[in-house]
Amino acid sequence: MAIHKLFLLPGDGIGTEVMAEVARFIDWFSSRGIATFEAEQGLVGGSAYDAHGKAISDADMALANAADAVIFGAVGGPKWDDVPYEKRPEAGLLRLRKDLALFANLRPAICYPALADSSSLKRHLVEGLDLLIVRELTGGVYFGEPKTITDLGNGQKRAIDTQVYDTYEIDRIARVAFDLARTRSNKVASSEKRNVMKSGVLWHEVVSQVHAESYPDVELEHVLADNCGMQLVRNPKQYDVIVTDNLFGDMLSDVAAMLTGSLGMLPSASLGAPDEQSGRRKSLYEPVHGSAPDIAGQNLANPIAMIASFAMALRYSLGMGDWAGKVEDAISRTLDKGIRTSDIMQDGMTQVGTTQMADAILHELEAIA
Ligand code: IPM
Ligand code: MG
Repeated sequence: MAIHKLFLLPGDGIGTEVMAEVARFIDWFSSRGIATFEAEQGLVGGSAYDAHGKAISDADMALANAADAVIFGAVGGPKWDDVPYEKRPEAGLLRLRKDLALFANLRPAICYPALADSSSLKRHLVEGLDLLIVRELTGGVYFGEPKTITDLGNGQKRAIDTQVYDTYEIDRIARVAFDLARTRSNKVASSEKRNVMKSGVLWHEVVSQVHAESYPDVELEHVLADNCGMQLVRNPKQYDVIVTDNLFGDMLSDVAAMLTGSLGMLPSASLGAPDEQSGRRKSLYEPVHGSAPDIAGQNLANPIAMIASFAMALRYSLGMGDWAGKVEDAISRTLDKGIRTSDIMQDGMTQVGTTQMADAILHELEAIA
């Protein structure tokens, strides 16, 4: 049996709590002889800063590089508000994305039927929602240079961020989106701001070209990013796959996440290009939610996004797609039984903590395994 090398980076705040539940899933698979995992654990974010004065150490970067999948919790918290910008907790996550070249970020937004009433939108608008945001993750304004604040010497300062995209970066993310669309409802909406940004003009041009040359069978629509935000809260079910740049993807995926009832529900996968020899992609899996310092350490966090992220790792990195489906089913069944963490609590349901939610999901998994 293949040994799957996992590298766990719990991070800060609720990251450590939700990762502890993933560790139980790893043990569950191992103890039943379904798969063999070799899981190492490292530090990232504020906890890494406290230990090494850096948001991630070089040694942990090397372990991340060697892993079949990196499983990431969350980073940040008020404790590190004043650390230097290059060492802030988020810098650890950004370094992982950039150095592992994880350019394709998949953020599914699925509305579990049991949660349709927790959405801020009416049930009929979100029930059955299943959309996938494909966010470009290693380019654009997140990494573009110059990125500076300059003192102009006249009592004024000037801040500059640079939005920059080359053809190849748009080409490869467009292909990921079109390929995924073919496995779903075969529709892609490409979102940019070509009405004010040159990067939007090029984005539109390259996506159109890739479509015409290689994916004429997929339905393609172009939508300005502001309009896309509006359409997501007006009628989200019109979309199947949305492909967009790093910054718009950050914003649109938070909007999409909220539509599903809770930010605590959504997983994500960040993938690199397939290795030419082995076909293996570098990968990192993380919940879309943050470290939630306000509820950390109280067994209140919803572990579902983290567990669903582990399921995505089973599917996209470990060749265990059938088991990914079973974990996702177990989550759905647990919700159907009325089990809720506080963020998704509704009248008449049973409120549980982080560990009890994971217990319930493991129990369902055991039943369908
Ligand atoms: C996300 C987060 C990150 C981002 C932060 C933590 C740097 O908001 O993954 O969506 O902006 O990409
Ligand atoms: Mg974000």
